[in-house]
Amino acid sequence: MGVLSGKAAIVTGAGRGLGRAYALDLAAAGASVVVNDVDEAEARAVVDDITAAGGVAVASGHDVSDPEAVDALVARCVAAFGRLDGLVNNAGLYHEARPWDETPHAMRRAVLVNVLGALQCQAAASAVMRDGGGGAIVNASSGGMFGFPSVSTYAATKGALAALTYSSALDLEAAGIRVNAISPMALTRMTAHALGRDLAPSTQDAPPLAGIEDKAPESVAPLVTFLLSDLAEGITGQFLRFDGRRVSVVTTNAFADHPHVTAAGWTPASLADAFAGPLARHLQPYGVERRLPPRVRA
Ligand SMILES: NC(=O)c1ccc[n+]([C@@H]2O[C@H](COP(=O)([O-])OP(=O)(O)OC[C@H]3O[C@@H](n4cnc5c(N)ncnc54)[C@H](O)[C@@H]3O)[C@@H](O)[C@H]2O)c1
Repeated sequence: MGVLSGKAAIVTGAGRGLGRAYALDLAAAGASVVVNDVDEAEARAVVDDITAAGGVAVASGHDVSDPEAVDALVARCVAAFGRLDGLVNNAGLYHEARPWDETPHAMRRAVLVNVLGALQCQAAASAVMRDGGGGAIVNASSGGMFGFPSVSTYAATKGALAALTYSSALDLEAAGIRVNAISPMALTRMTAHALGRDLAPSTQDAPPLAGIEDKAPESVAPLVTFLLSDLAEGITGQFLRFDGRRVSVVTTNAFADHPHVTAAGWTPASLADAFAGPLARHLQPYGVERRLPPRVRA
C-alpha cells in the first residue's frame, strides 16, 4: 500500500521535467494520475512509463490557460477515476528579458499560463474536492519571486502563486483542502536555459543556481507526494523550498511589528525626514543577491 493508494491526482505540465517526476512518484505511491501537458505526445509518453511500471494514469493535452480546457481536464479525472484528491499546479512558462525588452505577448502568455492556469485549475478542482470531502493542492512557485535579474515577468507570476497559496489555504481549510506552495530546484529544460547565462553577480559566494547540474527532478518529487498524502495532515498555507536535499520553510513576517514611525499629518517632507532618520537603517536588501538599496550602500 502506497501513501496515496485510493487517491486520484492531476499534475499539470507533467510531460517533462519536474511535472513528469511528480507524476511518476505519485503513481508509484499508489495514486491514479492524470498526466497533463499542452504537449500531449510528451504526456502520453509519461503515461506509458507509469503503466509500464505497474501504475495507473491517463493523458491530457489540455491547455491550462484555457478555462474550458481546464474544466475538461478536471472532468477527465473524475470520469477516469471517479474522484479527485490532489492537484499539482506545475505547468509554467519561463522567459528572460530586461523590462524594456519585454513583449506584450510574452508577458501575457506567462500570466495566462502561470497565474490564470493555476487559478482556473484550483477553481475547477476545489469544487470537486469540496464535494468529495477534501483534498490537497500544491502550487509551483519559485525562489525567483524574491528577485532575479532579467526575469521580472516570471518572478511576478511566481510571487502570485505564493499569494494565491496563502489566501486559498484560508478559504479552503473548512472544506478539508490543504494548499501549499513549493520552490523546487532541479536541472530541467527550464533551468538549463537559465544556466545559459550568468545569473550570478561577481560578488556572490553562492549563486542562485549553484550546484543545480547535480539536482535531478526525481529528488524533488517526494515532497509533492508527501504534501498530497494524509502524512501532511495539518500542513497548509506553507511555502516550502526543496532542492532534493535541503527542505526548508520560507518564513513570512507579513504582520510582524515592522520598524515604524507614527505621526499625524504626514507630508512628503516629514516622510523624507523619517527615511533619512529612524527608518534609514531598516531599509531591506532585495533580490536573491540581497542587494542593499543605494542609500544604504553609500
Ligand atoms: N526547474 C527548477 O529548478 C524550477 C525552479 C523553480 C520553479 N520551477 C517551476 O516548476 C515548474 C516545472 O518546471 P520545469 O523546470 O520542469 O519546466 P519545464 O519547462 O521542463 O516543464 C514545464 C512543462 O509545462 C508544460 N506547459 C507549458 N504551458 C502549458 C500549458 N498552458 N498547459 C499545460 N502544460 C503546459 C510544458 O509543455 C512543459 O512540459 C514550473 O512551474 C517552474 O516555474 C522550476
